[in-house]
Amino acid sequence: MKISTRSFLVTLGLLCTGCFCLPDKCEIKKSRYSSTVSVDCDSLDLVVVPGDIPSNTERFDIAFNKLRNVTYLPPLPKLYILDLSYNSIETVSWMALRTLPALSSLELQGNQLTYVELDIVVAHLPKLKYVNLSLNKLASFSQYAMGWPQVTELVINNNPFHCDCDLSWLITKMACLQACKGKDRQACCSSCSACFILLISQLKHARFNCKSPSQLHGRHLSTVSTLLTDCGTTHQAEIKLQSTENGTFLINGSTLLEEEPYMSHSSAKMSTIATPTIASTSVTSMDFQSLN
Ligand SMILES: *[C@@H]1O[C@H](CO)[C@@H](O)[C@H](O)[C@H]1NC(C)=O
Ligand SMILES: *[C@@H]1O[C@H](CO)[C@@H](O)[C@H](O)[C@H]1NC(C)=O
Ligand SMILES: *[C@@H]1O[C@H](CO)[C@@H](O)[C@H](O)[C@H]1NC(C)=O
Ligand SMILES: *[C@@H]1O[C@H](CO)[C@@H](O)[C@H](O)[C@H]1NC(C)=O
Repeated sequence: MKISTRSFLVTLGLLCTGCFCLPDKCEIKKSRYSSTVSVDCDSLDLVVVPGDIPSNTERFDIAFNKLRNVTYLPPLPKLYILDLSYNSIETVSWMALRTLPALSSLELQGNQLTYVELDIVVAHLPKLKYVNLSLNKLASFSQYAMGWPQVTELVINNNPFHCDCDLSWLITKMACLQACKGKDRQACCSSCSACFILLISQLKHARFNCKSPSQLHGRHLSTVSTLLTDCGTTHQAEIKLQSTENGTFLINGSTLLEEEPYMSHSSAKMSTIATPTIASTSVTSMDFQSLN
């Protein structure tokens, strides 16, 4: 079985934890179409990002390991997909991403991040478009911290949103989208200035619910804008008030604009707000062949 071979190798590899070499069990796959490689160190119990990654690596997958802090990333001028998802990452030295000037997709979903500072590094990452931060511990953040306006495909569902004025920019967009339901989805997302937030997910349980403060716990973001008062004129001006109760199709946290009972009888059912073009096309169009 591949699994048992792997775990044997993992055990061997632990001897090498302190060193910076590329673990043997990382798979290097050669691209069929170019002189680049894809490095797969998925599920190897790694606690540090390995070194010795070939400099012609286009895709680097270190998902499902045990990384906690990411402080160093090797210089990889061609890397365009970095998959750090499903580790235990609490902190990233965001500036460390500077060594990846071609980075286009950053997968960080399923970690323990409490803050993100893409704004400080995004100027060094001119191709960065897609960032997945779902399933982290992000309570409050600005759109700039998420790399906006450069990042145009941001996934942030399933975080423990703290619904106060600091997050009112997002709450406002959600309320606007909710008020716009039934109209053309592209028109809605653009009139709500929300096209950069990927609201859809194959996940049936994608949630945009407030975790705190306690009185808003469990409420969908789109339903709480009326309850935010004294957020200052800039926020207030944007908020299009609507009946809280009539936001119910989102309250249960089902995927926005999908599965909503109010529209199930309607032929004008919207499907998605935006599609993860980079994520899906880049991955599938890269066709790697194993060297092994
Ligand atoms: C990770 O970083 C935090 C904060 O910088 C530090 O307190 C912690 O000890 C680090 N953990 C590891 C495993 O390096
Ligand atoms: C919700 O909307 C419906 C139809 O627009 C309206 O009749 C109803 O009174 C609204 N409910 C609340 C609680 O505002
Ligand atoms: C929300 O969930 C409750 C209980 O799970 C259910 O009774 C209700 O119909 C749901 N509402 C909507 C709008 O989906
Ligand atoms: C982002 O990550 C979540 C959690 O793994 C996943 O379900 C979702 O499909 C990803 N979104 C995109 C657009 O790739």
